[in-house]
Amino acid sequence: MTDYVKLKKVTADNWEAVVELELGAGQEDLVTSNLYSVAEAQFDPDARHLCREACRRLPDVQRAENEGQGEGSFDLSIHDPVFLRAIDALVVPGLLIGHRVISQGDELALLHEEMASLSFSAIERRLASGAARRVARELMNSMGFAGLPILRSTFGAPVWPAGIVGSMAHDDRIAVAAVGLRRDLDAVGIDIEPATPLPPDMLELIATPQERRAIADNPLGAKLLFAIKEAVYKAAYPLDQEFLDFHDIKVDLAGRLATTRAGRTLALHWCVFSHVLVVATVQKASMDYLPSS
Ligand SMILES: CC(C)(COP(=O)(O)OP(=O)(O)OC[C@H]1O[C@@H](n2cnc3c(N)ncnc32)[C@H](O)[C@@H]1OP(=O)(O)O)[C@@H](O)C(=O)NCCC(=O)NCCS
Repeated sequence: MTDYVKLKKVTADNWEAVVELELGAGQEDLVTSNLYSVAEAQFDPDARHLCREACRRLPDVQRAENEGQGEGSFDLSIHDPVFLRAIDALVVPGLLIGHRVISQGDELALLHEEMASLSFSAIERRLASGAARRVARELMNSMGFAGLPILRSTFGAPVWPAGIVGSMAHDDRIAVAAVGLRRDLDAVGIDIEPATPLPPDMLELIATPQERRAIADNPLGAKLLFAIKEAVYKAAYPLDQEFLDFHDIKVDLAGRLATTRAGRTLALHWCVFSHVLVVATVQKASMDYLPSS
């Protein structure tokens, strides 16, 4: 059984048949009707861009299988179109970023040595870790580092193959990974959170008074700060091996910079769509230690 679909052009001859296609039971609230999508494709330039972009991102093998059809295809089961668009817009110099809808069987993508390094046995965690490693491995493959394991240290941090820097994150539906060359970056951290407001009682826990002023009226500001600090922690930990509390990281949203307790400065990149996606990078030779306060 193939795990992807092929796309065909919707034409004057088949559009009514497309509109009549019914969703499976329970899927009605997950996607819009085909009637809406056909109309959207006619009138919304963004929708057409999205489809072209998704086709451009097809793995070579799948793109080759669809050659001759003129329309291309994309793997609807593993790519979320909203993520494709958001990630495409999030350009981080020196980094490749990818995502995957966590799918049954993703735990089988864990290599033997990766399985041995995981400290958890719950199938949901293994699925998520497998999915994130699939994404990371695809990105590494495209950089010429094929089939390499990403072990997990006793503290949870991924152990990247020599020459690679990277980071992974997942929620219960999507896994993301960012990968680059150590030649270009010292470290990277990525985090993904649903774009929903953080519970108000967590605000003081995660944000300094100055940061609270900076996010004043932004309902997603606290969630953004939360995701930034988690991404910063993931980038800084492998370099410094030190636990950081939320208040050990100071965020300058306007300057898109974060500073850790040790004085390490990180560049911040983010986008907000259905999720808050943050990437924090430690540029080469960025050990700008500040006076401790
Ligand atoms: C690392 C941490 C932030 C991950 O957050 P999470 O919401 O549990 O999980 P995410 O999906 O975002 O990320 C999980 C991935 O982070 C990576 N990760 C875990 N610990 C890490 C560490 N110490 N350093 C770098 N990356 C780490 C792993 O790749 C992991 O995926 P895997 O287990 O499949 O390999 C969190 O688990 C943690 O260790 N927190 C303690 C420090 C903290 O929270 N301080 C306050 C914020 S600064």
